[in-house]
Amino acid sequence: MNKSPDNHIRPPNLVFIDTSRPAVDETREVQASLGDQRPSLSPKFFYDSRGSELFEAITELPEYYLTRAEAQIFEQQLEDIITTLGPVDVVIEPGGGSCSKVRVLLNPMQPRAFVAIDIAGDFLQQAASEVARDWPELEVTAIAADFTRSWDFTDALPAGRRLVFYPGSTLGNFDPEAQASFLGQLASVAGSDGGILLGVDLHKDSSVLHAAYNDASGLTAAFNRNMLNVVNARTGADFRPDEWQHEARYNPTRRRIEMDLIASTRQAVTVGGREFIFESGDAIRTEHSCKFTLDDLQQLAASAQMALSHHWLDSRGLFCLALLEPA
Ligand code: AVI
Repeated sequence: MNKSPDNHIRPPNLVFIDTSRPAVDETREVQASLGDQRPSLSPKFFYDSRGSELFEAITELPEYYLTRAEAQIFEQQLEDIITTLGPVDVVIEPGGGSCSKVRVLLNPMQPRAFVAIDIAGDFLQQAASEVARDWPELEVTAIAADFTRSWDFTDALPAGRRLVFYPGSTLGNFDPEAQASFLGQLASVAGSDGGILLGVDLHKDSSVLHAAYNDASGLTAAFNRNMLNVVNARTGADFRPDEWQHEARYNPTRRRIEMDLIASTRQAVTVGGREFIFESGDAIRTEHSCKFTLDDLQQLAASAQMALSHHWLDSRGLFCLALLEPA
């Protein structure tokens, strides 16, 4: 009998594919990025089950306007969005996590199939099971994969007119070069008759951005520090998360939030037998969260042979939902 991680019977309209075994040696990857002149850790290490839960909680914080602004676009402009998109057979959501955002599209759009792809396999399987139970006619595929690295599961994607749904401004967590190549990958998955529905956060006053990444309740700090637990679990490193402080600042020139962990004491950390010494005040860069102008978006779309064909803003102009179609 098919069982999901919560030990419930898996719905018959759900297929789960696990390709998440690391294709790279993450211990070496961490050693290399910590050994850089400017040490960093990949934001992929945020998202174990705890990290995904913390992120879901962040989206409900009063300071973190992004998720609400995006939801408001769907609430207030859904009809126009659905009409503009036209008929869609397959919705593909990389990084779907809780699969909560796609729900708003499913009834009015009525696709035949939905594919959710995420690195946090257990969390994903649970969320995709709930979608499959709620839409018993929908073919649901949940793929546990690091889609930032490889799309070798593309053959498993259902055929038909495809919409790649990439909300939440997650594209902003890639560096500009990677944004362009990732969009190129999404464009090839969407195909010549498909599209990409992309949610991106917009450039704005630094104080609004600063508050969103330095919330008063400390959830973002906990999310940032949890990365060290994930790195410990995945590489056998011995970081002590309590000895690192959260820091996030907006860099208006590069139009991005720069998030760091700052060592609060002098300390040695061992990763795969290699020792790293951090002085008090040393930083490890954990995330960039890029903010966009419409010009940036147009240029980015062009770099993936796509065009920004439509866009919708929330009532305060904080956030943008963009439709990219083949140029
Ligand atoms: C997932 N991503 C879009 C979030 C962001 O806003 O860049 C991650 C996050 N980092 C801190 N708070 C939220």
